Amino acid sequence: MDLKVPPFAVILIPLLLSHIWTGGDAAHSPSPSPKPAPAARGTAPPVARGPAPPVARGGRSTLDPRQLTALQSIGLSTTRDPCALPSPHDNATACDNAAPFRHLVSLRLANCSPDVDLSSTALSALSTLRSLSLLHCPIPAPRRLPTPFASSLRSFSCVSSLRRLTGVWLSRLVNLTDLAVVDVPISTSSPTVVLSQMHHLRSLTISRANLSGGLPHHWHNVDLVHLDLSSNTLKGPIPSSISVLGYLETLNLSSNGLAGTLPDSIGDLVFLKNASFSQNSLSGPIPTSISQLSNLTHLDLSSNQFNGSIPRFLSEMKELKFLNLENNNFQGVIPFNTTSIKKLEVLKVRGNSDLCYNHTLLSSKMKLGIAPCDKYGLPVSPPPDKSSKSDSDYSDDDGEDDDNGDAKKRSGGHHGPSKLVLGVAIGLSCLVFLVIFLICLSRVCG
Ligand SMILES: *[C@@H]1O[C@H](CO)[C@@H](O)[C@H](O)[C@H]1NC(C)=O
Ligand SMILES: *[C@@H]1O[C@H](CO)[C@@H](O)[C@H](O)[C@H]1NC(C)=O
Ligand SMILES: *[C@@H]1O[C@H](CO)[C@@H](O)[C@H](O)[C@H]1NC(C)=O
Ligand SMILES: *[C@@H]1O[C@H](CO)[C@@H](O)[C@H](O)[C@H]1NC(C)=O
Ligand SMILES: *[C@@H]1O[C@H](CO)[C@@H](O)[C@H](O)[C@H]1NC(C)=O
Ligand SMILES: *[C@@H]1O[C@H](CO)[C@@H](O)[C@H](O)[C@H]1NC(C)=O
Ligand SMILES: *[C@@H]1O[C@H](CO)[C@@H](O)[C@H](O)[C@H]1NC(C)=O
Ligand SMILES: *[C@@H]1O[C@H](CO)[C@@H](O)[C@H](O)[C@H]1NC(C)=O
Repeated sequence: MDLKVPPFAVILIPLLLSHIWTGGDAAHSPSPSPKPAPAARGTAPPVARGPAPPVARGGRSTLDPRQLTALQSIGLSTTRDPCALPSPHDNATACDNAAPFRHLVSLRLANCSPDVDLSSTALSALSTLRSLSLLHCPIPAPRRLPTPFASSLRSFSCVSSLRRLTGVWLSRLVNLTDLAVVDVPISTSSPTVVLSQMHHLRSLTISRANLSGGLPHHWHNVDLVHLDLSSNTLKGPIPSSISVLGYLETLNLSSNGLAGTLPDSIGDLVFLKNASFSQNSLSGPIPTSISQLSNLTHLDLSSNQFNGSIPRFLSEMKELKFLNLENNNFQGVIPFNTTSIKKLEVLKVRGNSDLCYNHTLLSSKMKLGIAPCDKYGLPVSPPPDKSSKSDSDYSDDDGEDDDNGDAKKRSGGHHGPSKLVLGVAIGLSCLVFLVIFLICLSRVCG
């Protein structure tokens, strides 16, 4: 009997087999299209790097000569006109348009050499500055802040710079709207020393600054929109007077030594979007007033001693996307069902040994890291071993101490595509068998 393989099969079979073997890659990395280059954020557009015209020393700089001298005394190169736009380097300057001489309004020093000298004399000459930003400039802080300079400054940012600061020194910057001090130790008895004279603050970040004392009982900064005092050594309660900060959108008090309960007045912060109280010693229940925070998208209460049950309203908050309740003493049945849990991008509840989920409302595939409930609302067994990780929707990237919202997103991640590949492979295998079957059939019939 002749072997009559239909010609289409000769072509089809190798084609299908090769598809199966390369299927995984083919499905994920289609055409090697080059990734779009990440847009350089906030940097100046490229400028021609030709030799800058020598403008210093009585040249054609448009900058006030006193200020030019001050910049030179600080150690800043002025071979290029500080008022020319845009600044090409780490160091950036911006000027106003005054005549006959322009004045410096913004100065940014980055990656300073140790011989840079930010003297009080230089600062006196720079009292037109609105914004001063220091990044990785571990030079000594000027001892004296000249009053005209201190009161004209609107924005001061000091990141890993000036070695150490005092609360009194900072408190002289009375007209600031933006203050950021990160990775610089501040010695002061309490944040009140820094803040009580700054009546125009809108954004305040003092983080990793060894800031000690308690939170203010009287706030003088009612315009604050952004408040971040994370990673310091603050102690004591969160005073209920925090509710006077009625424009707050972000509140970050994570990684301090705060204790006591969350005040009910927190519900008055109606614009609050992101709130983190993680890694403190806070206790008690989640206040019911949080249900009034209709803009809340991000709530992190992880690593405290909060207790009581998880209120149902958390599953009904429309904007909430990120909820971290890990490592507390919450108890009872979590108030989520398959529908309400889908609205969240991140839900973390592990590390609460008395917490459980209703297995008729939620599948164990969610891998929440807590046990199912018995009919009395108690966990049926010890929570599953943490080492039994799997690529599940709500699994957690073993970050006990992470507070950064980097937890895996529900959708996305790697597991979706790998299921797809499996499906495609199975489908193709079936096709191959069908083709082989057809070939055999054709042989029998032929
Ligand atoms: C920026 O200015 C500082 C202080 O004058 C200096 O030490 C540093 O080298 C400058 N960096 C660049 C890239 O010009
Ligand atoms: C603070 O800024 C305001 C304008 O916002 C200005 O009128 C006032 O003089 C400044 N205060 C000081 C002490 O410079
Ligand atoms: C942090 O503050 C404490 C006092 O509150 C002080 O003893 C300690 O030396 C400070 N640490 C640094 C690095 O400044
Ligand atoms: C606020 O929370 C959202 C959702 O978790 C997050 O994407 C965003 O980066 C947060 N913003 C700030 C300023 O923390
Ligand atoms: C929560 O803990 C406090 C002590 O910190 C205790 O008095 C209270 O009864 C606890 N509440 C619940 C619901 O377990
Ligand atoms: C799921 O929970 C939400 C919010 O609590 C509730 O409105 C909804 O009725 C529940 N759906 C089911 C099917 O139980
Ligand atoms: C679980 O949900 C079902 C259906 O809503 C309900 O009848 C049951 O009482 C719940 N079990 C617990 C322990 O809450
Ligand atoms: C709070 O601050 C910590 C540490 O600085 C940071 O990791 C976290 O993302 C911040 N959270 C919010 C909600 O801003």
